[in-house]
Amino acid sequence: MSKSTQSPALKTDLRPATIAIVGVGSVGATTAYTLQLSGMVADIVLIDINKDKAEGEFMDLNHAAPMTTETQVRVGDYPDCADAAIVIITGGANQKPGQTRMELAAKNAKIMEEIIPNVVKYAPDTILLIATNPVDVLTYASYKLSGFPASRIIGSGTLLDSTRLRCNIGRYYGISSDSVEASIIGEHGDSELAVWSRATIAGMSLAEFSAATQQKYNKESLHKIFEHTRDAAYNIIKRKGYTAYGIAAALTRIVEAILRDEGSLLTVSIVGNYYGVKDVALSVPTKVGRDGAHHIMDLILNQDETDRMKSSAKKIRSACESLGL
Ligand code: LAC
Repeated sequence: MSKSTQSPALKTDLRPATIAIVGVGSVGATTAYTLQLSGMVADIVLIDINKDKAEGEFMDLNHAAPMTTETQVRVGDYPDCADAAIVIITGGANQKPGQTRMELAAKNAKIMEEIIPNVVKYAPDTILLIATNPVDVLTYASYKLSGFPASRIIGSGTLLDSTRLRCNIGRYYGISSDSVEASIIGEHGDSELAVWSRATIAGMSLAEFSAATQQKYNKESLHKIFEHTRDAAYNIIKRKGYTAYGIAAALTRIVEAILRDEGSLLTVSIVGNYYGVKDVALSVPTKVGRDGAHHIMDLILNQDETDRMKSSAKKIRSACESLGL
């Protein structure tokens, strides 16, 4: 959670909100816990086809409630989405070690066909927050399945990757990631890119900051930082089998931006017309507030970044086409 985007004055503006989470695996359950700890929401509804799993998570979370924020947690079903300001979708298969996110597309698109119409039936005015991978493809699938305006279908996209990038840059320079402004855009996956031409520390470009602090600055170091960022999930999954804390924090950050009506620019994935590629969902800095997410400008990129951005968009579009989307 970027401290620099938090405004204490806005905290009082929070209205009691219900959040529904569809899919209570490791990401869904960790997100419920992160939301509970945040104290931002009044009520969390857990929905899963495996009722026992949802019950078990509910019981465990409820034991934390008296020692944390008294957020109400309950097990529910699709009709309970009716009260939800935001419905978070985390259901579906996870990446196995070595598997790409895109390899989950066909399987998880089928699961979206089940989930999305059920949510929409009971919650026609909610905001859908999609985390299931491949998130850009499934954000687009959810857009088609729901008939919602693009602003109300938000994929977690590369928010987590941008955070990982800022952390890695901060570590490289020995400063807090809070002081780094940098984005990963495009697919949340192998074709994503770091927008090095726009990365800044204290308003200085990385080249300027490196010179001013007598630190090494070259293409190889930047590329290593990028690879470490892009491949983070592979490296975590290889060791523990799944990722959960980072994505749960990213989802909570998006919920916060919506409930507080922040207007923060976050690299979330929404459907738009990106760099000439139409009908595709991907991440660029996007304004997030109470009415959802809006693509308000094209980030100015250099030629190499523009080319990589376009090819990332095309990759997502062709994955959608192969699913008939
Ligand atoms: C990750 C999953 C959310 O990057 O794709 O951790």
